[in-house]
Amino acid sequence: MVSMESPDLGHGDPVRSAPPADIVLTREMQAESVPGAPEPDTRQVVFDIRGLDVHYGPVLAVAEVDLAVAAREITALIGPSGCGKSTFLRCLNRMNDLIPGARVSGSVLYHGLELYGPQIDPVEVRRRIGMVFQKPNPFPKSIYDNVAFGPRVNGQRRGLDDLVEHALARAALWDEVKDKLKKSALALSGGQQQRLCIARALAVEPDVVLMDEPCSALDPIASSRIEDLMVELKRDYTIVIVTHNMQQAARVSDRTAFFTAEIRESGARVGVLVEYDQTETIFTSPSDPRTEGYITGRFG
Ligand SMILES: Nc1ncnc2c1ncn2[C@@H]1O[C@H](COP(=O)(O)OP(=O)(O)OP(=O)(O)O)[C@@H](O)[C@H]1O
Ligand SMILES: [Mg+2]
Repeated sequence: MVSMESPDLGHGDPVRSAPPADIVLTREMQAESVPGAPEPDTRQVVFDIRGLDVHYGPVLAVAEVDLAVAAREITALIGPSGCGKSTFLRCLNRMNDLIPGARVSGSVLYHGLELYGPQIDPVEVRRRIGMVFQKPNPFPKSIYDNVAFGPRVNGQRRGLDDLVEHALARAALWDEVKDKLKKSALALSGGQQQRLCIARALAVEPDVVLMDEPCSALDPIASSRIEDLMVELKRDYTIVIVTHNMQQAARVSDRTAFFTAEIRESGARVGVLVEYDQTETIFTSPSDPRTEGYITGRFG
């Protein structure tokens, strides 16, 4: 259903030839492929980010991030408030373009394409790379119209009923709403609204879903449903999630990136990536004392 091998992010025309199916490995992964070392990692890389800096006006908010996100995995971003997790996440679908004063430099390769290249259409980027926010934000419309919104904007008029049902089913919400599709989305519970927002994101057939603290406004039961859903969705989608909940990161993610805010000589606070590894490693034997301090609650 989701075509990941030939992204076309240009203004209607194929930008350039599609990248190979099993794209670049990260430098770290390649470095491991020496005799006697573990088997080289052959996961497909969706995002290969190198030397990423983000400024807000003159202020450097996030510096020198190198990180590769693998396909059909859940990658968790953790770290203390203000360390740049949301800023970094927004770089992955060019949402920072919409923030006045925000400036992104460095390289963000998406399936081998430079996401910030001149021929890339940011609207198409945001269709393929969807976003779900902390506070559920359904439109003040019916449940049906929320899910059909994106496809309609894309010009789709036929097959909407099936599409809406499919997206709601993928978001584990169909059974709860199938008899009230014409009712207002605002009448749903918070957890249902968040699953509706996930359905709305899925309705335009994205490749990646970014989630910025998607459970922090929800109770534990609703959160647990979203966590189950994320694990289910990673069969078809690549997911990057920001979370303040360590247990959640440990439960659902395959890889975890720990960010912190470094105090520079000038006194400026700059967000940096401290450590990025398999989630189990980050939570059981992190290599940086700052990571250990954070996950054990001594810092941040
Ligand atoms: N729109 C903006 N304009 C100016 N500065 C911003 C803007 N958004 C974020 N910042 C700054 O960038 C830095 C990183 O903020 P960001 O929101 O990315 O952190 P975060 O890790 O997501 O924090 P939290 O966990 O509280 O959500 C902070 O110093 C913040 O003040
Ligand atoms: Mg944030």
